[in-house]
Amino acid sequence: MRWYDEHRRRHLPWREEPGPYRTLVSEFMLQQTRVETALPFFQRFVDRFPDFASLAAAPLDEVLSLWAGLGYYSRARNLHASARAVVAAGSFPDTVEGLRALPGVGPYMAGAIASIALGQDVPTVDGNIARVLSRLHAFAGSRAKVWPLASLHVPPGRAGDHNQALMDLGSSICVPRKPACMICPLRTHCVAHAEGRPEAFPVLPPKRRAPRRRALAAVWRRGDTILLVRRPAEGLFGGLYDLPWTFDDHDAGPSALQRWLTEELGVPFEVGAQLGTVRHTLTHMRLELQLHVVEGEGEPRLRSFTAARWTDPAAPGELGLPTLARKALRMVIAKS
Ligand code: ADE
Repeated sequence: MRWYDEHRRRHLPWREEPGPYRTLVSEFMLQQTRVETALPFFQRFVDRFPDFASLAAAPLDEVLSLWAGLGYYSRARNLHASARAVVAAGSFPDTVEGLRALPGVGPYMAGAIASIALGQDVPTVDGNIARVLSRLHAFAGSRAKVWPLASLHVPPGRAGDHNQALMDLGSSICVPRKPACMICPLRTHCVAHAEGRPEAFPVLPPKRRAPRRRALAAVWRRGDTILLVRRPAEGLFGGLYDLPWTFDDHDAGPSALQRWLTEELGVPFEVGAQLGTVRHTLTHMRLELQLHVVEGEGEPRLRSFTAARWTDPAAPGELGLPTLARKALRMVIAKS
C-alpha cells in the first residue's frame, strides 16, 4: 500500500473519477488490452456514453463503431448488454454473484469491480496479479489456484487499491522477463527472488501457436469506391463492416471466391488479378487474406451480410472497421 500510494498511475481516468459505470467500461476495455492502448478509446467512449442510461439507449452499431480498432468485439456487445441489464434491473449489482450474472463478466472482472467500485474486501486475479503472487510464494500451481493466495492478502478496507497495486506492480516491475527485483517493494518477502529464479514463476500451460488460415477477399470497385459489407451479428467481427471475404483452407483459389461471391452477393462475378496479401493475427488464428480484384454487374442482393456500402477506401468515415479491414483498405489504396 505504501508503494501504491507513492507510485500509482494517477492519470488513469477511471481512477480519477471512479464509480460503477466507469469501472465497468474500463475493465471491459482492459481485458486483453494494455492500459496505453485503451486510454484514448476509454475517453472517447465515456464522452459519447457518460452513463448506463445513454449506453443502454444507444444502438449496438454505434457502440461497435466506437470500439473499432480495439479488437475482441464480443467485449463491446457484452458491455452494451450489461448496461441494458443494469438499466432493466434499475440498479447496479451489489455482490460478486450479481456481477457475475452480467454478460461477459467473469471471476476476474467481478472481483475487480466489487473491490474497486463497491469497496468490498474481495480478491481478484488477472495475469499480472497471478505473476506477482506466484513469485511471492514461489507457487507453481495454475492461475485458478492462485485465488486462495489472493484472498490471504486482501487488506480490510482497501481491497480495490490493493488489487490495483498488484496490477501496477505486475505491469511495471514484476514483468514477465527481467523483472526489476532491485526496486520491488516486495523484494524482501519474495520467495522466488530469494531463490534467484523469479522467471521460473508462474508456471504457464504450454502455448499452442494459433493455426494459419488462408482467406480470399473481393475488391469490387465502382468509380472511386469499393464495396464494403456488414457482417452478420454473430461470429467473427460480428456487426462490423469489412471487405467481403471467405476462408479458403483447402486452397481452392479464385474459383472458390467466385462461387462464394455469387452466392453471397447475388450477382455474377469475374475474379481478376491478385492485389496482395494482408496478414493479421487474432488470438485463435493467423489470418492471411489474399485480395483479388473482382468485376460484377448490378447492385448486390445480400444473403448472409446485413448491409452493403460503396465506400471511398481513403475515407471510410464513421463505419466501424476492424483492424484487418483497415489493413486491407491501405493495400487497396497502395495498389491503385
Ligand atoms: N487492468 C485491468 N484493470 C486495471 C486497473 N483497474 N488498473 C490497472 N490496470 C488494469
